[in-house]
Amino acid sequence: MALRRLVVVVVVAAVAASCRQGLAFPAMSALPGLPVAGLAVGFYNATCPQVEELVLAEMRDIVQRDWTLGPALLRFMFHDCLVRGCDASIMLISRNRTGEQDAAPSYGLRGYDEIEQIKAKVEEECPMTVSCADIIAMAARDAVYLSQGPRYPVETGRRDGKVSVMCDANNDLPPPFSNIVDLKTYFSVKGLGWKDLVVLSGSHTIGRAQCSTFAADRLYNFSGSGGQDPSLNKTYAASLREACEAGLQNDNTTVYMDTSSPSTFDLGYYRDVYSNTSLFLSDQALMHDRWTSAYVERMAAAASPDEFFSDYAVAMTNMGRIEVLTGDNGEIRKTCGAHVD
Ligand code: HEM
Repeated sequence: MALRRLVVVVVVAAVAASCRQGLAFPAMSALPGLPVAGLAVGFYNATCPQVEELVLAEMRDIVQRDWTLGPALLRFMFHDCLVRGCDASIMLISRNRTGEQDAAPSYGLRGYDEIEQIKAKVEEECPMTVSCADIIAMAARDAVYLSQGPRYPVETGRRDGKVSVMCDANNDLPPPFSNIVDLKTYFSVKGLGWKDLVVLSGSHTIGRAQCSTFAADRLYNFSGSGGQDPSLNKTYAASLREACEAGLQNDNTTVYMDTSSPSTFDLGYYRDVYSNTSLFLSDQALMHDRWTSAYVERMAAAASPDEFFSDYAVAMTNMGRIEVLTGDNGEIRKTCGAHVD
C-alpha cells in the first residue's frame, strides 16, 4: 500500500511538473445560468429537424445492446465539457499519446465508438451539419431518459474544437478523492456553482466504478492510515472489500455506484450519500458543506424525484454551456475522432 501511495505521489508530481497549471490558477468561464449566444434549443430545426430522433434511436440501440453504455455516455459529457469546454475535444486522437484520451482521469472512459456510431447515422441524413459536441450532449440526455430520468430540452449549436491536451484533462477533472473545497473550486472555475455540483453528482445514481478509483482511499489506506474510512458504513465497506481485493494496483473490477438501483436514474444516490454508503470521498464530501448537505438530506427524504429532475435539467444546461465554440468558431467534422498529431 505504501508503494501504491508512492507511485501515486510520483505520478501526480510528474503530472504537475509537466502540466503548466493546476487548480490554483484557473481560467474563468462564463457566468453560471446565463444564456450563451449561438446556443438554442432546436438549433437544427431548419437544417436537420430529425436529429433528436436519430440520436435517440441510436441510443436505444446502444443501451439495448449493453445498458452500461448509458451511464458511460453520461460521464462522457462531463469529461468533454470540463476540459476545454463542450467541444468534443475528448474525441480527438493523439498518436503521440498526449491528448485528453491519454490522461489519467480518462482511464476507463467508454463511449468513443458509440458517439462515432451516432455521428455516422446523423451524417447519413444531414451531412456536415451537426457537431460532435452536440451529439455528446444529446446522447447524455438520452442516457438519462432511457434510465427513467427526465427528457429535458438540450441546447445545441456547439461546434467542435481542434485541440486536445492531456494536461488540460489532468488539471480540470476532479479526482474521486477530492474534498468539498476542491470540488467547489473545480466547478466554480468552469462557471458552475454549489448547486450544480450537488445536482450533477446525482449522475452517480447510475453506472459503475472500478476498484482502482476508490479502494485505497476508502477501504485500505484512508488518509494514509492503513485502514478504512471511518465514515463509511461498516456493512457496505465489508461488501466493497469482498469485491475489491487489497493491494491490487489498477484493479479494474467494477462495482455499482448506487447500491439499490444502479440502472435507474432516481434518488438512490442521495440516499446512499446520506447513509454513508456512497462510493467516492467526493460523494461523501457533499455532506461537508451546509448547502450541499442540506440538498442531499432533502433529496434523500423526498417522496418524488421531481425537484431533482428539474434541477438536473438546469444543471446539465449550465454544464453544456461551458466554454462552447459557436458561430464561425471551431468546425463541423465528418467523423469525431480526427487525429491531432
Ligand atoms: C463531482 C466530481 C466527480 C468526480 C470526482 C467523479 C468521479 C468519477 C469516477 C472516478 C468514476 C468511475 C470511473 C471508472 O471507474 O471507470 C465516475 C463514474 C461516473 N461518473 Fe462521475 N465524477 C464526478 C462528477 C460527475 C458528473 C458531473 C457526471 C455527469 C454529469 C458524472 C457521471 C458519471 C457516471 C454516469 C459514471 C458511471 C460511468 C460508467 O458506468 O461507466 N460524474 N465518476
